[in-house]
Amino acid sequence: MYDMIVVVAKCACGYSVNATSASAFSVFTDLLETDFLHVYNLSSDIGWQRQEYNVTPQVARGTYGKKAELRNVVANPLNSSYDYAGSGALGGDPGLQLWVRGDSSDGMVEWA
Ligand SMILES: *[C@@H]1O[C@H](CO)[C@@H](O)[C@H](O)[C@H]1NC(C)=O
Ligand SMILES: *[C@@H]1O[C@H](CO)[C@@H](O)[C@H](O)[C@H]1NC(C)=O
Repeated sequence: MYDMIVVVAKCACGYSVNATSASAFSVFTDLLETDFLHVYNLSSDIGWQRQEYNVTPQVARGTYGKKAELRNVVANPLNSSYDYAGSGALGGDPGLQLWVRGDSSDGMVEWA
């Protein structure tokens, strides 16, 4: 005996920016999902890229500027591609590490 499951969607599956009852909203049906537990090389084609740029305190019109550096985005994958739990290769929780560094001697806050 087979059970039949009928699914009726009121709209296409996706996620929206602003509630769909708002006067202006956008529904996105594509999703970029990355399994950072198993990303071993952030330079390989994983669908996105790290950014490197800076904004001086003068341009930021504040006390500090900001500096996005590649080294502030660190992969900490699980040791085995077959595992889904355990410590990361660098120790601690596995996944992507995004660093904000406290040294701002040049007036720039380093971040990912
Ligand atoms: C979300 O709502 C704001 C305010 O109405 C509007 O300016 C913006 O364009 C909307 N965003 C999208 C993606 O529709
Ligand atoms: C990471 O990927 C890049 C781009 O494919 C490649 O040039 C580089 O050799 C890889 N690094 C390692 C450690 O495998």
